[in-house]
Amino acid sequence: MIPTGQVCLRARLRIGAACGLLGRLGRVRIALLVAMTAAHAVSSAPPRFSPDARAAATEAQMTDAERIRLLHSSYARPDRFPGPMPADAIPSASYTPGNDRLGIPSLRETDASLGVAWVNGIRKDGATALPSSLSLASTWDAAIAYRGSAMIAKESRAKGFNVLLAGGVNLAREPRNGRNFEYVGEDPLLAGVLAGATIRAIQDSHMISTIKHFALNAQETGRNVVGSNISDAAAHDSDLLAFRIAIDIGHPGAVMCAYNRYNGPNACQSDYLLNRVLKGEWRYPGFVMSDWGAVRSVEDLKAGLDRQSGEQSDDKLFFAEGLPQAIASDPAMHARTRDAVRRMLRSMYASGLFDDPPRIMPIDTTADEAIAREAAAAGIVLLKNAGALPLLKSARSVAVIGGYANLGVMSGGGSSQVQPQSGPSLSIPSADGRRTIMLHPSAPLTAIKTKLGPDARVRFDDGYYPARAAEIARGADVAIVFATQWMTEGMDAPDLSLPSGQDATIAAVVAANPHTIVVLETGGPVLMPWLDNAAGVVQAWYPGARGGEAIADILFGDAEPSGRLPITFPASLSQLPRPTLDDTRDPNREMGSQSHKLAKFDVDYDIEGSDVGYRWYARQGAKPLFPFGFGLGYTHFVYSDLKLAGGATAMASVTVTNVGSRRGKDVPQLYVTERAGTPGLRLVGWGNVALDPGASRRITISVDPKLLADWSSADRAWKVRAGEYRFRVGHSAEDAALVAAVSISARSER
Ligand code: BGC
Repeated sequence: MIPTGQVCLRARLRIGAACGLLGRLGRVRIALLVAMTAAHAVSSAPPRFSPDARAAATEAQMTDAERIRLLHSSYARPDRFPGPMPADAIPSASYTPGNDRLGIPSLRETDASLGVAWVNGIRKDGATALPSSLSLASTWDAAIAYRGSAMIAKESRAKGFNVLLAGGVNLAREPRNGRNFEYVGEDPLLAGVLAGATIRAIQDSHMISTIKHFALNAQETGRNVVGSNISDAAAHDSDLLAFRIAIDIGHPGAVMCAYNRYNGPNACQSDYLLNRVLKGEWRYPGFVMSDWGAVRSVEDLKAGLDRQSGEQSDDKLFFAEGLPQAIASDPAMHARTRDAVRRMLRSMYASGLFDDPPRIMPIDTTADEAIAREAAAAGIVLLKNAGALPLLKSARSVAVIGGYANLGVMSGGGSSQVQPQSGPSLSIPSADGRRTIMLHPSAPLTAIKTKLGPDARVRFDDGYYPARAAEIARGADVAIVFATQWMTEGMDAPDLSLPSGQDATIAAVVAANPHTIVVLETGGPVLMPWLDNAAGVVQAWYPGARGGEAIADILFGDAEPSGRLPITFPASLSQLPRPTLDDTRDPNREMGSQSHKLAKFDVDYDIEGSDVGYRWYARQGAKPLFPFGFGLGYTHFVYSDLKLAGGATAMASVTVTNVGSRRGKDVPQLYVTERAGTPGLRLVGWGNVALDPGASRRITISVDPKLLADWSSADRAWKVRAGEYRFRVGHSAEDAALVAAVSISARSER
């Protein structure tokens, strides 16, 4: 009898799983199956066996040593790699060797939320940076998120990667969170839909995408010791719902569990989160990988963790060294190991890693930067316009101040950091010397000059001295003052003020020139003590590879502002559920320390529960500086004729009309305000409408019943209660342009 591995080799099958099936089907059917799969190999028809069948068949042929080899990965840094890096390993976050005997490809993984990441400088080849994920969330447009993520996937494939560490969907419970720029805002539906679109784009590109960080990784301070405490119902009606929506849309091959503890145990050893909720109740078929440095024991496997990632970041090589003995002595661990391997192989088959491997090729920088520019412009939120915008291209004298606007645009730090193709225009070591603040070389100053006539006088001042900045602003027709806030993984902002005295510079400039526009390049919300005196405020986030041009496009009206806030801008820290950031109170804790050995501490997320962001403000009756969903344009939209259909769920239709004089894009938002007698605000849907002046369109929004429900821990289901449900359509979470009510019947959603 010919061993199945050899049959596979001789037939040059592309699919290891078919080889495994051969063994089980017996010799009579071998010829048929080989013929079928060989025919498939040349015909490019889709594989005939399900990913589950292929995974089961391949796994069945593996030795225990081969199984264990798949379940741990190395940090693919030449300085940390155990021995010389294999030829197909790419400097990046992670590498797992393939298995030639069974035709299993190696796993080459890179961070890729905003572009192919630079891994603390070990990658030198550069990549195209999208704007921050919070900027993408501001588009409220899944098509833009999909296009951007498909661009990243294309560049990643061209560099040889097949797994992307992307899909950050942690809700912005804490506006000071250093990683909010990597996430998609504070609302479970908006975050779930947009993260789902980015994941889908990666999976459609035949790569594995993660979704991360599961779950409640809501602050960076003490992230390895902090306990996120929250009731089961509140978690299901907020953060877990965001994960669930994104998983249902994107079908990520992997879930990355988080650093923090979740109601007790570490998230990566939470039997409740991983086994019961994710794999049990949600029937998630893929695998769970650890975050880098988040594994505590080989026993984590039993809690539902499948893969130890970047194992040199952990205290021990838990899986590589501990698993051989664990599976030899414990049949349950052996069974669990085999299940983990099947899950990994299943995702590899389902995502196309066997059938459509990446090919190294050049990157089309021009095309990719055009995608980044479009996304950045669509994500910019116009927060204030006292008639000063759009700027006239015929302006004669313009003062541009601060924010390194002569050099480039700000980017966020940490594992998602992208190194621009041509290198950063400025790199500044952070105060602790361990991190790098990087500017993308897309200078707003140059882009602004390009829009103006040849006779215009444009003066730049670095903004270091408020008096000098004011002097330069005073003499100009218009002043544009830029402010930056660098945020990074591993560190939260201590408060919401702009750093380095920039508020003083802005205050001096707006006082000197009433035609001052403030442009903010920040990771998240900031306070604006100078707001009343500014003629305009443009929230540009971290706008990516062509951010300077995108900002100029908005300032001069070459792109219509259409971004809407995905996160509330507080009026003061005292409005937050936790006015002071929770930390370890450990005198030895340094800002940004990530040690496991710090004193444990807990954050009580039941203060706001599922009422994250705007829901908290609505519950408190508090008025923020700018509400969730808010954003101005250069034209105006009105809503009319709201109709609701009820029954099993709600379906709303409304007419949107552009009553201004320019073409523009609008995001009509549907909120439920009362559910069967229980008041409370929740976004339940929105539309994306682009209209010419005077034009109208009728849009229909169908509501996911889970958004009308409350999670019942007893029934393990989202339960919709029968009764009258009140809705409103508006321009933001604070706006009630139209209201209506409808009857909804009871139902359960799982
Ligand atoms: C981050 C993850 C990232 C991983 C690999 C961790 O520090 O939390 O988001 O994917 O590193 O770089």
